Amino acid sequence: MAGGGFVSQGGAGNFEGKVTGFVIMTCLVAASGGLLFGYDIGISGGVTSMDEFLQKFFPEVYKKEKNLSGNTSNYCKFDSAVLTLFTSSLYLAALVASFFASATTKALGRKASMVIGGLVFLIGAIINGAAMNVAMLIIGRLLLGAVPVYLSEMAPAKIRGALNIGFQMAVTIGIFGANMVNYATSKMQHNGWRFSLGGAVVPAIIMTVGSLFLPDTPNSLIERGKKDEARQMLKKIRGTENVDEEYNDLVAASEASNQVQQPWKDILDRKHRPHLVIVSLIPFFQQLTGINVIMFYAPVLFKTLGFGDEASLVSAVVSGLVNVFATVVSIISVDRFGRRALFLEGGIQMILSQLGVGILIAKVFGVSGEGTFSKTQGDIALFLICVYVAAFAWSWGPLGWLVPSEIFPLEIRSAGQSINVSVNMFFTFIIGQLFLTMLCHLKFGLFFFFGGFVILMTLFVYFFLPETKNVPIEEMNRVWKAHWFWGKYIPDDAVGLGHQPKSIEF
Ligand code: BGC
Repeated sequence: MAGGGFVSQGGAGNFEGKVTGFVIMTCLVAASGGLLFGYDIGISGGVTSMDEFLQKFFPEVYKKEKNLSGNTSNYCKFDSAVLTLFTSSLYLAALVASFFASATTKALGRKASMVIGGLVFLIGAIINGAAMNVAMLIIGRLLLGAVPVYLSEMAPAKIRGALNIGFQMAVTIGIFGANMVNYATSKMQHNGWRFSLGGAVVPAIIMTVGSLFLPDTPNSLIERGKKDEARQMLKKIRGTENVDEEYNDLVAASEASNQVQQPWKDILDRKHRPHLVIVSLIPFFQQLTGINVIMFYAPVLFKTLGFGDEASLVSAVVSGLVNVFATVVSIISVDRFGRRALFLEGGIQMILSQLGVGILIAKVFGVSGEGTFSKTQGDIALFLICVYVAAFAWSWGPLGWLVPSEIFPLEIRSAGQSINVSVNMFFTFIIGQLFLTMLCHLKFGLFFFFGGFVILMTLFVYFFLPETKNVPIEEMNRVWKAHWFWGKYIPDDAVGLGHQPKSIEF
């Protein structure tokens, strides 16, 4: 899940409380954030494969694509740094926003930040839909970039565990929705791309309006010193007068988190080395699976391989649907088979399918990039890509967010989570920006390049990632201590002394 990765930390009491309108509203707003993020991921590739859009904003690319420039290599048809900036700028903005997100929420409270966030996304979507030039396209995408970060700040702790993969689910539905919208708008005579890009207003409106109806959370009120208001709010939200225990827990948790003075210094301690290494490598590896080559550029990739306009967009819809269903597999099996089993199986499946795609493209297009797939070859390519997407969707997709969120002790959890989000956004940007150039230069070798990384990360998981299934967060140090490699970093007295936050947020 993009950025929303916090897990309910255990220790949460069974407080009296009903599923109130507030709780439902919170879920709706969080889900609309996931949909919006997914929509933004999935929309740009389809739009960049539409002729009218290319003619208007990227005439050089259009000429190359239609072979009007004498260049015959399929691999380089779409190679343009500004074209990729249109897609990747969103993640650059997300990276920058991540540095400010927590301070803004602390100062303004969650509700105000949510309303502002929703409005910013709304404006971004409108600018995109109304774009007259490349600058407007990029500015619109920049404004949309706050989404993932916003979610990591807003995700309520009590439902964070479920939200973790639930959010990833919303993202995949958003991507699939975008694939379908692109397919529908490509049939329009004119301005289909405007509807595609402007379509982001729908989840943006749900999010803005939804957050207007939300009260400020008791947690956020306590953080800003408004204790009486917080108690009243708790009663209203829970639908009961009996909230003392939970209220006291919230206050205690807030005090505890205020005592955490130096998370950024603490995280560099030797005893946190395993956590630091894992939280830096997991988002890096997640992006180096190459998944966003498919999520961002599937229609462009399929066109590069010689699929027709319609076939390219339909193929993106198919892989988008596989992404959604395979995420369900993850939800069902992650606590049964464990994280490692999914990571390892998913890794092997990705390696094999990438190898297959690379070999197929090498055979048909060779180094020169000249050639076309037969119908059967096209079907095999699409099948292999779906096998790859399914593997990602039940392994690195959700687990890339889940695992970093469950390995940290409280005192460094928020610093760890920031590293996770920033590294992920940075490499999403790099892949989004460089993919078309890499394809042009590495040709079919690009698939072996990503496949090589998946081999590396699968070995890493095998040797260095302990199983965290069913381990209460406060006992996590026991897991590290027992590990053949990381054990030596964990002092004996740290085992079993993990912090156990008593409170829940909502
Ligand atoms: C990743 C995104 C990716 C998405 C695909 C997420 O876990 O962080 O970069 O586009 O999965 O479903």
